[in-house]
Amino acid sequence: MNIQVLLSDKVNQALIAAGAPADCEAQVRQSAKAQFGNYQVNGVMSAAKKLGMPPRQLAEKVLQLLELGDIASKVEIAGPGFINIFLNSVWLAGQIDLVLNAPELGVTAVEPQTIVIDYSAPNVAKEMHVGHLRSTIIGDAAARTLEFLGHNVIRANHVGDWGTQFGMLIAYLEKMQNENASDMGLSDLEQFYRQAKKYYDEDSEFAARARAYVVKLQGGDPYCQKMWRKLVDITMAQNQLTYNRLNVTLTEGDVMGESLYNAMLPGIVADLKAKGLAVESEGAIVVFLDEYQNKDGEPMGVIIQKKDGGYLYTTTDLACAKYRYETLGANRVLYYTDSRQHQHLMQVWAIVRKAGYVPESVSLEHHLFGMMLGKDGKPFKTRAGGTVKLSDLLDEAIERAGKLIAGKNPHMPAKEITQLARVVGIGAMKYSDLSKSRTTDYIFDWNNMLAFEGNTAPYMQYAYTRIVSVFKRAGIDESSLTLPLVMSEEHEIALATRLLQFEEALTAVAREGTPHIMCSYLYELAGLFSSFYEHCQILNGDSEAVRQSRLKLALLTSRTLKTGLDTLGIETVERM
Ligand code: ARG
Repeated sequence: MNIQVLLSDKVNQALIAAGAPADCEAQVRQSAKAQFGNYQVNGVMSAAKKLGMPPRQLAEKVLQLLELGDIASKVEIAGPGFINIFLNSVWLAGQIDLVLNAPELGVTAVEPQTIVIDYSAPNVAKEMHVGHLRSTIIGDAAARTLEFLGHNVIRANHVGDWGTQFGMLIAYLEKMQNENASDMGLSDLEQFYRQAKKYYDEDSEFAARARAYVVKLQGGDPYCQKMWRKLVDITMAQNQLTYNRLNVTLTEGDVMGESLYNAMLPGIVADLKAKGLAVESEGAIVVFLDEYQNKDGEPMGVIIQKKDGGYLYTTTDLACAKYRYETLGANRVLYYTDSRQHQHLMQVWAIVRKAGYVPESVSLEHHLFGMMLGKDGKPFKTRAGGTVKLSDLLDEAIERAGKLIAGKNPHMPAKEITQLARVVGIGAMKYSDLSKSRTTDYIFDWNNMLAFEGNTAPYMQYAYTRIVSVFKRAGIDESSLTLPLVMSEEHEIALATRLLQFEEALTAVAREGTPHIMCSYLYELAGLFSSFYEHCQILNGDSEAVRQSRLKLALLTSRTLKTGLDTLGIETVERM
């Protein structure tokens, strides 16, 4: 059920019938103020301009031709030529009944696209840190949303699993194994990496071995390959634990690391040279892009192969974009990386378009985001100034939530507190990130995110349990709600209208890749439910019809909250 699409179709038909050219758009939007109705048509003015007609005159004509049947109770022209549409509460009630009986909250089936989502992308032999949090959870919300709508989503975890550092890491793993230290050090990847680096810097024999291993690894030497595999597997097994704790849907099967594209790299460089796009410059192979100029106004060079023959992050991303189109059959590719990689991606995409590797019809989108800042407004760090390990952050979230819940519920069994602490703690951390417009930096603040008031996970999770408890307390079974919905109170109608706008929120998130739109929607919904709950007696309505109707509104609210939170990757509980 998508009211906006429904109205757009009808108004567009009327516009065309009124003589507007076929490329005119009704531009139906949710109205910002109640006095402008529920929806407003913004497209009449520009259509009138094209027709050379006074806008209000066109609006009159559209109004005469507009066939909204029982959808609207009132339609009026406002200002220079807006049309305001007021929905009919009887129609709304019927729609709620339809949605309640439909699967998936009555969300319209889409024409499925293959959508690749590049997110998380940690690095091998390194611990995941806060820098990976935003990509991981925002990307996952996008994946869940697009999948819910019916798209074929391919999760691509572009793990940093290649590079010259692997010689050093293999040499160190070997050393540890020889000294019978088994793989112990790998449970602390930071320590492992630091030690490897230390040997590399201080022990020339070790360094020479490390350099030889890089060459061997690149040449496909089975021993080096095996050691490399081990490093990747151990890292990703650890990361998988973090994904599971985070309730993130990534699995080990979604790893499509940088190494996957190795075999394609020489061919890409040769092809770009043959196409005249890449040239040799000071020993390196470079693509000059007119659209990117240096400070002297000369086209900027993007290196795709170094003087020593080595390939770069850029070369890999060229191959990767090509692969996602050619091999995975992507219609759309969304990249969730922070804003510092924007220019890099723009350059890569400019090259893949020029080379014809990815046609314009396939959209390549950088869904960038800002940084997580500490309370001091500086990049989020440990007290000692180090990078914050993601697993430590999760521990802290759960611990804080546990204390909070125990404080509020002195009699709750310890087992339940532990379970709730995870759902609330992790949920709070994720939600605080998801609820902010992703393009800006944001301040990471435990107290704000764990508050039970405001646009937070605990508030949303609590709102959900409150509705569930209405049903539990009264011992009501959903299947007993058989009478058709009736509404007369303004609070009922406001809630019903918002409930029917769930799909509009979903499609906006799907289009823009911005989960905060869903957060705002759910938050408003919870607020409307609160007012409804305060003003309308749910269980003691004037009649059985009213009682059932209100229960139905409550039921759909709980389903919508649960499903909406689920598209964000936020868990709910039945009691808290
Ligand atoms: N591993 C990279 C990092 O940690 C992010 C990879 C993003 N994806 C891509 N296709 N370049 O910064």
